[in-house]
Amino acid sequence: MIDAIILAAGQGTRMKSNKAKVLHQLGGKSLLQHVVDAIKPLSSSINIVIGNDAELVKNSINNHSINWVLQKKQLGTGHAVQQATSNINGEATCVILYGDVPLFSTNTIKSLISKSESTGFSLLSVILDNPTGYGRIIRDKNKLIKAIVEDKDTNRQEQKIDEINTGIMAIQGSLLKKYITQLETDNSQGELYLTDIVKIAVKDSVTISSLVCDNVSEVMGINDKNQLAEAERIYQQQQAKDMMSNGLTIKDPSRFDCRGNLIFGKDCSVDINVVFEGENELGENVLIAPNCIIKNAKIGDHAEIKANTIIDNAVIGSHATVGPFARIRPETKVGNNARIGNFVEVKKSSIDDGSKVPHLSYVGDSTIGQNVNVGAGVITCNYDGVNKHQTIIKNGAFIGSDTQLIAPVTVGENATIGAGSTITQDVPGEKLTLSRKKQTTIPNWKRKK
Ligand code: UD1
Ligand code: MG
Repeated sequence: MIDAIILAAGQGTRMKSNKAKVLHQLGGKSLLQHVVDAIKPLSSSINIVIGNDAELVKNSINNHSINWVLQKKQLGTGHAVQQATSNINGEATCVILYGDVPLFSTNTIKSLISKSESTGFSLLSVILDNPTGYGRIIRDKNKLIKAIVEDKDTNRQEQKIDEINTGIMAIQGSLLKKYITQLETDNSQGELYLTDIVKIAVKDSVTISSLVCDNVSEVMGINDKNQLAEAERIYQQQQAKDMMSNGLTIKDPSRFDCRGNLIFGKDCSVDINVVFEGENELGENVLIAPNCIIKNAKIGDHAEIKANTIIDNAVIGSHATVGPFARIRPETKVGNNARIGNFVEVKKSSIDDGSKVPHLSYVGDSTIGQNVNVGAGVITCNYDGVNKHQTIIKNGAFIGSDTQLIAPVTVGENATIGAGSTITQDVPGEKLTLSRKKQTTIPNWKRKK
């Protein structure tokens, strides 16, 4: 049985933010959500200690079977654990995790747990080139762990130690309950340090086993914005690597961002500076050009998204092309072989198979049939200042350039609308409709000199 405790009550002063540290986002989800997701497969119960922004932290987590524990005052990591120990089963192995150490893998924790089985207590450590800021692992001549000394409490000798405490430990419930009450505040910060239970356990003849993590980036702590940015890049590069292994072409993995989940078929290619947000799905052979933002979209086989396009909560058909510089807003469906061109905004509309909106248009609250041609600069005037109205354009219609369609309005099948028209009434199918004054020329007119 594995009972987890996650510490998430701190404010995170080094972040210099109004929001609690564990709420900061990494790859589109909070630091705390990463920790919860990684420990979930192993744990029989998850206890999260909250304090700063307690309600916000609670609501940010997408998992309902959590025991929330309130730490009213943040008196240190040891004090935080004290608040949760009554929930821990003495027979269980308790895994303690920090909400600001989010990138560990489930497998690393599995190994740490098995290390704790013989001794009852194991620590996850790591060797760092620059250990500044972290608690140092103190070992005796026989390499056995004696204590952890916090950075602020180190002497010169201890400062040189490069093996640090990741903050992650596995300890038998009964041992934790026994030692956690013995902490004292005799340190430079006047706090109850969780890390002091190591020397207390050693005094009680417990051997502390350790797992030295061979992947430094898994266990980095995030205390300030520099570390947050560093962790973001590590996370994105890891995702890019995994996706490339699964066949995605990524032009430059150092300029790839996926803040959510991405599913893709064979032979998809993603150019530089593309940001994926939420849940996205690409069919086969989808090409995404530079500088696109793609959020909660489903994009069909052989579709091409050209540079600088934004797609938000929309479905794009197969063989469709969108962009460059297009903005596809929520609840839009672009059909197969359809084409949305440059400087076109589409909102809550469906554009059926084979239709084209190639240049400089606004299409909102519209249903456009198949093989419709919408000329340059066509605007659906969907808003009268109070209500939104629908525009319906039936199959095969041709809308001349610079037409305004004042909704509600319906354009019939195979209708043609002359360029520059202001359409205020329904347009019959098969005919030419235009609302344009006859052009005149004044014969004797001369330009003033
Ligand atoms: C801690 C460890 C340090 C380790 C480092 C690894 C202690 C005393 N030090 O230092 O040995 O090298 O993490 O990243 O444990 N928290 C609470 N309540 C509190 C205080 C903190 O819930 O009263 C939470 C914070 O929200 C945070 C976590 O505990 O998620 C760690 O606290 P933090 O202040 O970041 O500790 P570090 O200085 O990083
Ligand atoms: Mg920290």
